[in-house]
Amino acid sequence: MDGRGEKLKAIRDELLGNDRLPLYGYRTENKYFPVAGEGNHYAKILFIGEAPGKNEAMTGRPFCGAAGRVLDQSLSEAGIERGEVYITNIVKDRPPENRDPSPEEIEAYAPYLDRQIETIKPRVIATLGRFSMDYVMRRYGLEKAIKSITAIRGTVFKADILGNETFVVPLYHPAATIYDQSKRAILKADIKMISDLVQNEN
Ligand code: URA
Repeated sequence: MDGRGEKLKAIRDELLGNDRLPLYGYRTENKYFPVAGEGNHYAKILFIGEAPGKNEAMTGRPFCGAAGRVLDQSLSEAGIERGEVYITNIVKDRPPENRDPSPEEIEAYAPYLDRQIETIKPRVIATLGRFSMDYVMRRYGLEKAIKSITAIRGTVFKADILGNETFVVPLYHPAATIYDQSKRAILKADIKMISDLVQNEN
């Protein structure tokens, strides 16, 4: 035991009580929950989305609406159980009207994500969509490699995170694939590639 359950619970508790967060008022007005993240504390793969949508904010669970169904199906086709991985977002509260998160919101919520990454120590960070791709690549020294998501999705970058070699792989956001079957196929193939990457190390 290395105390990660307690560390992740502390992150969740702080998030719940932090009334200085920019979307805290919107959370409480709507009786929404913050969405800290869920999954295996020892996950080899950490998926990072953008921000909770309405379903997520109503339940407190990440990726449990339409985009979540795409993610679940892609995981299952790659032979991965959802409970094996950890799933979270950069911004932990729902932005009004599902608008894009602002730079200030990303800055305010990112320390929670940083601490989750440092606690879980995943082998692979799979970013879902451009906001988490930009944040993670800048945060871990890969800013020079940032291009459009179409150009670099499925690329395996290497980052040193507190001395641990970590693969960073940008992926399409599942929501971007709901009405685009070709992107859906690419997302599934990329998730399968990540699954093979970690399996081959066992
Ligand atoms: N979209 C996201 O980016 N995250 C979720 O949790 C749900 C939808």
